[in-house]
Amino acid sequence: MSPASFPVRRMRRLRRTAALRRLVQETHLVPSQLVWPLFVTHGNGVRQPVNTMPGVAQVSVDELVKDAERAARLGLGGIVLFGIPAAKDATGSEAYDEQGIVQQAIRAVKGAVPDLLVIGDVCLCEYTDHGHCGVMRDGEVDNDSSVYLLGKVAVTQARAGVDLVAPSDMMDGRVAGIRKALDAAGFAHLPIMSYAAKLASAFYGPFREAAGSTPQFGDRQSYQMAVANGDEAMQEIRLDLEEGADIVMVKPAGPCLDLIRRAREEFGSPLAAYQVSGEYAMIKAAAERGMLDETRAMWESLTAIRRAGADIILTYFAPVAAEQL
Ligand code: PBG
Repeated sequence: MSPASFPVRRMRRLRRTAALRRLVQETHLVPSQLVWPLFVTHGNGVRQPVNTMPGVAQVSVDELVKDAERAARLGLGGIVLFGIPAAKDATGSEAYDEQGIVQQAIRAVKGAVPDLLVIGDVCLCEYTDHGHCGVMRDGEVDNDSSVYLLGKVAVTQARAGVDLVAPSDMMDGRVAGIRKALDAAGFAHLPIMSYAAKLASAFYGPFREAAGSTPQFGDRQSYQMAVANGDEAMQEIRLDLEEGADIVMVKPAGPCLDLIRRAREEFGSPLAAYQVSGEYAMIKAAAERGMLDETRAMWESLTAIRRAGADIILTYFAPVAAEQL
């Protein structure tokens, strides 16, 4: 029997009252699905606003602990930490220093708020003087020596007590390399969330001011994926899963809803999506100019990412959204 059509079927019947709309809502968001990215810097009592990202600041470890307490109070899924080093060099050495800013931050947060999930971003770009996500050799980003250093980043974060490491560099074989390094150091239990399909996106622009990680020459197209390629994105995800990724991520989120949906359908593993700095900044900037309603735009963008199929959303809106849930 084919389903009834008009005038028997009237779709508006279930939209008439808030109670009915609530009953048939398909997509739901809970605070535990939201992860809050935070930028940690050296010093004390620092809360330096990031111009390109209204509401986001670089914070020192003491201030970070306050944000972590807020995250725990709101029941967020976790926080993800990006570090601003005291000094940058050719190999990004503060990234794998036991006393590096992120390692200090992890120890402080896990000491103060032990139950909050702390994720470490594993990358070199904030720490290298050239701003690339790996080390240079003959004018190119050298894959395998970068993977070796990324393994060291993950192990030092693990020793500091991180709960999950998240490599965002897009080197080939880095999930396998990090897995091997963690296992050898006694961290076989520590999961990896890989930025598996990370596109060379214009929407990372505001982040690069927040993290001070703009490449000093060239761009990231020799390692981040071309925006035009969906099949290649699925291949990247498959490879990361084969190398041992426990959670895979699509990034950016809003411009890649199709890739989120495909990954949801092709792979059964937990799936994250990163609503990046540019997606956040666009909504903030338009709202500041009275062009749209910030709260509604926030909910619509987050709901769309969930509806596409993401289990976990990394978003700068995390605390504000959780407050409203
Ligand atoms: C760096 C990294 C970037 C982001 C997360 N990790 C920037 C980049 O690749 O240039 C972007 C996050 C955002 O824009 O919010 N490895």
